[in-house]
Parts: sequence; structure tokens; C-alpha cells
Amino acid sequence: MEYETPLFFRVMKYASSVDRDVIDMVSGNPDWEPPQALRDGLSEYADLEPAAFQYPPSDGLLELRKEIAARRGVDVEQVVVTNGAGEANYLAMARALERDRGEDVILTDPVYPYYPGKTTMLGGTQRFVATDDEGQLDPADVRAAASEETAAIVVNSPNNPTGAVYSAETVRELVAIAEEYDALLISDEVYDNFDLSGEFASALSVDSNHRIVTNAFSKSLAITGFRVGYAIFPPELVENARSRHMLVNVAGSRPSQYAVLNALRETEPDYYERNRELLRERVDAFTDALEEAGAEYTTPKGAFYVMARFEGYPGTLENVFELIDEAGVAGMPGEAFGDSRTEWLRFALVTPRVEEAAERLATRFV
Ligand SMILES: Cc1ncc(COP(=O)(O)O)c(C=O)c1O
Repeated sequence: MEYETPLFFRVMKYASSVDRDVIDMVSGNPDWEPPQALRDGLSEYADLEPAAFQYPPSDGLLELRKEIAARRGVDVEQVVVTNGAGEANYLAMARALERDRGEDVILTDPVYPYYPGKTTMLGGTQRFVATDDEGQLDPADVRAAASEETAAIVVNSPNNPTGAVYSAETVRELVAIAEEYDALLISDEVYDNFDLSGEFASALSVDSNHRIVTNAFSKSLAITGFRVGYAIFPPELVENARSRHMLVNVAGSRPSQYAVLNALRETEPDYYERNRELLRERVDAFTDALEEAGAEYTTPKGAFYVMARFEGYPGTLENVFELIDEAGVAGMPGEAFGDSRTEWLRFALVTPRVEEAAERLATRFV
């Protein structure tokens, strides 16, 4: 079996190899501060006894699992702390496929590229359902694609790359479809703290034993390097996932989990609100400049990405490399996200230089 190396590695590598100033809008690494309590937790950790430097419980520090369970309104036994949302998605998809209820994994187009990658790695079959121009998913299209062969439906809201936020009604329907076909809805909610629309609905709001919710602190606490996420499983599905997590990882990172727990306990809501406000400002600055450059673009309702389309300039890897060389702006090729956005480029708003980036693009295209 051939595994595909995620394309963004190649873009990052190219951007760092060129001999010019490049504004990095490739990956979803926040450039803003984590909460102070995160730093405090980490400093405190350095002075703990040697016992704290040994394996944590495989499924995560109990206090952290309890904190997550209380916040999400689930039983602590349903929570497995993972190495980011990445591992949470892997465990969820593996769990869906090993139930032997079918091999199809329904994904959206455009798609976060790791989902089709994981589907193939786990021996599943990809089935794509197109979203509309705004990235909204019509549950009727998902129902039309579903069958007895469906093992999982994997969705992500707020969405990378489209910025769409699914309504409560959509989420309810998606859970209902999973129930109808004895499949699992896997709802990746890693950008839940970056809902700019106020319309976000978690799949946890629908009571069902046919949905798994995945999440992480990577984005909400601006710590993609810490690798702390979680998955919430229906009670009868959690055991195998816990074992798989243990067999693959032994355990997660104990200092990271400790610092996250401290941050969750001590951080006020205004930390999250400030970051949303920063993103709103960046969306406005970037899209205003794109408007002046005559580009077509998306206005995200959540997450931190804007897609842009420049006339006669498809979103290929070659064009992305050329923009790095000629404009000093690095984005992601639309072709990385499936067949439907090959004309588009995706830019992550994780730099204070978003306006300058759009101006550089304007200079290149006008
Ligand atoms: C939709 C989505 N899911 C999962 C991840 C990975 O999250 P983590 O770094 O917590 O593994 C990302 C990262 O950008 C993402 O955009």
C-alpha cells in the first residue's frame, strides 16, 4: 500500500528553501499566545517529582478526562485523550471500520486531506459528497450516498478549508442517517472555539450511540505542538479504541496534559473571545484586500481559512510554488482538498501580515 505524504509538507519545505521573505499562510499553526495558565502549568511541571515524569494513564490523566467529560456533558468513561484531533480521528475511523458494517467512508468534497488519507490507510473506501459553494453540506446528498456499506460519515464543522459552520438541523440529520444505516457519524469539532457565526452545533447535542465527537486543544489553546486532543465514544465502542490507542502510543504526553488541565481550569472566556475577534479582524482585512485585487473569495463563518480564486490561475502545486517565488506568499493548492476546488487557493489567517499578503497577491495579479 502506498501512503501519500500530505501535500502541505511539500509546500512548507519549498517555502523555507527559497531565498526571499515569504508570508506563511500554509498550515493551521496559530501565531497568537496560549493562555498564561498554560505556560504556568508547564513551568510548574518542571519542578515536580520524578514520578510525574513517567507514563500517565494510557487514556489520559484522569483529572483531565474528568474536566473534559464535565465540560462536554458525557461520562468520563467515554473520553479518550489522544495525540491531537489527528489521532482522535484515526481512532474513530478505525473503530467504525472494524465494526464490519461496511467499508465505505463518506467524506465531503472539499475535504480535509487527512480524512481520505486515513480512510485508505485503514482499508476503507472513499465516497465523496459535494458541498455547495459556501461549503454547506446537504444531508439529502449524504443520504443518497449512504448504503448498507457505509461504515462512517466524517464531517468537520467549523470547516477546514471552506469556513462553513453546519446548522443544528444538519447535524441532527447526519446523526439520523448514521443511525439508519448502522454507521457512525464522526464529527471533528477541532475549530469549535472559532465559530464566528454563533451557529455552531456540536454533534454531542444529539443523543445517539451512533456518533463520535473528536476535538483537541491544538487550536483553542494555540498549542498545535503539544499534541493533546480527545475523542468521545458511545459507551459500547470505547474499549477497543482505548486498546488501539495504547497499542499505538503506549500513552500521550504527560506534561502537555498537565499544562492543558491547568489552562482549562484557569482561563477565562475572554481569552477565547479575544482570539475570535483577532480572526474576525483578519478575515475583514484579508477579504477587503482580495476584493480590491479582483479575486473571488470565501468569507469564513468559522475556523481560520480563506479560499481565493484568481482568474486563469488554478490552485495547482506549481502555481503555489510560483506564488512563493514571485509574490512571497505561501498558501495551499486547492487541489489538495479534492476535485471541487482545483481552481482555488487556501490561505490560513495565522499571521499578522494578512493585509500585506493580499496586497502582494494583488500586485502579482492586477
Ligand atoms: C479539520 C482538522 N482536523 C484535525 C486537525 C489536526 O488537529 P491536531 O493538530 O489536534 O491533531 C486539523 C489541523 O489543522 C484540522 O484542520
